[in-house]
Amino acid sequence: MEYKEMVRRFPNEKVPTEKMIKTEEQIEGIRQAGIINTMVLDEVEKKIHIGMSTEEIDKIVVETTKKLGGIPAPFGYEGFPKSCCTSINDAVCHGIPNEKDILEEGDIINVDCTTIYHGYYADASRMFCMGKCDEEAVRLVRTTKKALDLAVEELKPYSKLRDIGYTIEKYVKSQGYSVVHEIGGHGVGIEFHEDPFIYHYGKKNTGMVLFPGMVFTIEPMVNEFSRDVFLDSSNNWTIYTEDGGWSAQYEYTVLLTEDGVEILSH
Ligand code: MF3
Ligand code: CO
Ligand code: CO
Repeated sequence: MEYKEMVRRFPNEKVPTEKMIKTEEQIEGIRQAGIINTMVLDEVEKKIHIGMSTEEIDKIVVETTKKLGGIPAPFGYEGFPKSCCTSINDAVCHGIPNEKDILEEGDIINVDCTTIYHGYYADASRMFCMGKCDEEAVRLVRTTKKALDLAVEELKPYSKLRDIGYTIEKYVKSQGYSVVHEIGGHGVGIEFHEDPFIYHYGKKNTGMVLFPGMVFTIEPMVNEFSRDVFLDSSNNWTIYTEDGGWSAQYEYTVLLTEDGVEILSH
């Protein structure tokens, strides 16, 4: 359906801007970027191990992305110094790879990769449990993935934006955990971060109507205890839990289609 007709069908609702609806050509470009980005995460998954530094993870991301003809989007993005984010245990997101952070048995780590391929962006992240982990840590990681998968399962064209967050937070709370509110998903594809902001909490049946052709990330951050977080003032990037509890995150880039959802990167 054409944009103008979709708008006409929802006269009393907040609707996406025309820019938020990708053309067929753009979708195909983002789809290719998504495939490459998923391959980069697959390579990280294959090579990640206890005893390695997060700097080495960054090297894998750089080399794999280049080999596949892409560019890591984080490098130089608003001054970010590395090519992926590596967030360990109580780090919620935007951890900066470095030589000093060595993966230890029992750690949980999120690796977040964004690839530019022929000018198009795709963004995804996964958790890795290093060796034998605490049962609670494993449950936190599983709950986070499940929350994202539930939101994707329920996602459909012409549903409401805040349903995504409603589903996520409801499930997370039922498991005794909390959802970070300050950071959200985002439109993606032509740029790294586009509108709209994708909330990971909210009221059912509110927010803008989601149209087919929208491409965005869903990337819930789930904390063991309180949802409160703070920014590391020493690097102005990394977010940590306020109370030191552990945090997990998964991220997909998704495309809304006329009849459902296509996961473009995971
Ligand atoms: N990949 C993150 C996201 O999901 C953004 C990281 S910004 C960076 O939106 F500069 F740290 F890479
Ligand atoms: Co993102
Ligand atoms: Co990301």
